[in-house]
Amino acid sequence: MTSAIPEIGDNFPAIDLPPPRLDDLAPLRDAFRLRRTEHNFSSRPLPPQTLSDLLWAACGVNHHGGANGSHAGAPVVTDATVSNAQEIDVYVAMEQGLYLYDPERARLAPVLLGDLRPLVADEHLPRSGDEAPVRLIYVADVDRLEQGGLKDAPGVHDPEIQKSYYLVDCGIVAANVYLFAAAAGLNAWFHECDRAALAKRLPLRFGRRVLFGQTVGYPA
Ligand SMILES: Cc1cc2nc3c(=O)[nH]c(=O)nc-3n(C[C@H](O)[C@H](O)[C@H](O)COP(=O)(O)O)c2cc1C
Repeated sequence: MTSAIPEIGDNFPAIDLPPPRLDDLAPLRDAFRLRRTEHNFSSRPLPPQTLSDLLWAACGVNHHGGANGSHAGAPVVTDATVSNAQEIDVYVAMEQGLYLYDPERARLAPVLLGDLRPLVADEHLPRSGDEAPVRLIYVADVDRLEQGGLKDAPGVHDPEIQKSYYLVDCGIVAANVYLFAAAAGLNAWFHECDRAALAKRLPLRFGRRVLFGQTVGYPA
């Protein structure tokens, strides 16, 4: 799933994330109780460990398929995806630039220099998230649905069925992020984004769709 991840160079290096640790989190019971949408954010950056933990919780690799199953040896992630297609890419907009999360290498690959955070909202939304340290952009790769284990399944080439798959799968990633944020004392907000503006700026191959944004940071 990482074949299209660009490499940019020394002036905008990749960020190698520390291995996920998920220490000091509130118990699951409290995370459910605390999960909510909050629109206020401090601009305080997330420490690398917290960023790693957040992205691992979103869609990091948590095991490899067993020897005999349909995904034998393949990485499997914290979010369920149809037939393990893993078709949701998570782009990470931070002040210095835009990165693409690579779950297999636990790394942020550089994509674009510059601050795209204001585009990860549309004109109708409050601007309160524009300076939050992290805005996630969820992008679906329809090719991965068509080429994975599902390629011979009836309906998989039907755009409406594809849409149902990638919207459900995006929602599962977003729910992971909401619960992680609640457990880690962070605020989170799932929202619309300026899809047209982002589709112009992101280097997306044909078949990729910008879906939603999610803003995460410390409470203001
Ligand atoms: C599919 C979806 C789209 C959403 N879009 C927006 C949005 O564009 N703007 C916004 O402020 N909140 C958005 N939200 C957040 C909801 O408004 C929020 O979840 C709802 O008010 C319930 O609040 P809670 O998350 O605290 O339970 C969206 C949530 C979902 C699930």
